[in-house]
Amino acid sequence: MIRTLYWKNNRVYILNQLLLPSRIRYVECGNYESVYRAIKDMIIRGAPAIGVAAAFGMALAALEKDFKSLSAMKSYLLKAAGRLASSRPTAVNLFWALKRIEDIVDGFSGTPEGLKSRLVREALEVYDEDISVNKRIGSYGAALLKKNSMVITHCNAGALATAGYGTALGVIRSAYSQGKIKLVYVDETRPYLQGARLTAWEMKQEKIPYRLLTDNMAGHIMKTCGIGAVIVGADRIAANGDAANKIGTYSLSILARYHKVPFYVAAPVSTIDPKTSNGGRIVIEERSVKEVLYVNDRLIAPKGTIACHPAFDVTPAGLITAIITENGVFKPGEIKKALRQK
Ligand code: MRU
Repeated sequence: MIRTLYWKNNRVYILNQLLLPSRIRYVECGNYESVYRAIKDMIIRGAPAIGVAAAFGMALAALEKDFKSLSAMKSYLLKAAGRLASSRPTAVNLFWALKRIEDIVDGFSGTPEGLKSRLVREALEVYDEDISVNKRIGSYGAALLKKNSMVITHCNAGALATAGYGTALGVIRSAYSQGKIKLVYVDETRPYLQGARLTAWEMKQEKIPYRLLTDNMAGHIMKTCGIGAVIVGADRIAANGDAANKIGTYSLSILARYHKVPFYVAAPVSTIDPKTSNGGRIVIEERSVKEVLYVNDRLIAPKGTIACHPAFDVTPAGLITAIITENGVFKPGEIKKALRQK
């Protein structure tokens, strides 16, 4: 399987998702600033993948200089963490990973060299853990599906949105290997087209049967095609079970409720934000309206048109059938229990 990102010889290599599906190219990052740029510019995207990239960014920050003292190193790392944290606002995995690294930095009392190797080790652990967590999500989720199901997914919550395997697509991969997936309907996900460019690409690589939909076809497909489930990822799950995910997820959840189709959110525990009481308090990223107004660098609306571009929306807990985590399957209102189980 193509790797979303990897660490080699004290460098991080990030698959440039802006070029998919036509080209496979890695961006080499030798400092935290280049990781910041890769996240900010969507070279890498998807909540867990952003978190893993940030952990590697911190390891690079540690390796970047010959620090004269531990305190000089700690203040440099603090600056790097602040910069990485400012790359994208909605996916909480970014802040989760930075906090995990910062906690190590705070409690460390050895030499700068010792801290360098400690942070590289931790970043590699964050990477490995993400893959094993996704496989657990996959097997919990697959157990919820019936044989030969047809499912709809939105955006890309696959291997490309994580260190590997994927969350929503991890469930689909797992279920497919058990003969439970007949067909995956892939929303194209306007305006950034993560569904068309990335999810369709992953399905093709895995030889999982799929059909591409424009987002506005989902209702008709639910009404006429016998959909068994909607499975999506999440960028942040509030304490009450409201879940932020790629714009369009909320509309899909309403369609699913009307058509009595189960609506599942698949996400690691690192996507749960117990400090945010409800979805109304989640910061929704606003991206450049150019992504709405232009397709392949061509303006598709009259010059001067004002567009909107909220990149995420919030699905209320009441519209989510269950949240699938590595610690089991939870009712949205009980999602805090997932944090307590190991
Ligand atoms: O803007 P993106 O591409 O980073 O948005 C990604 C999504 O919304 C994914 O569906 C979400 O991060 C879940 S990823 C496992």
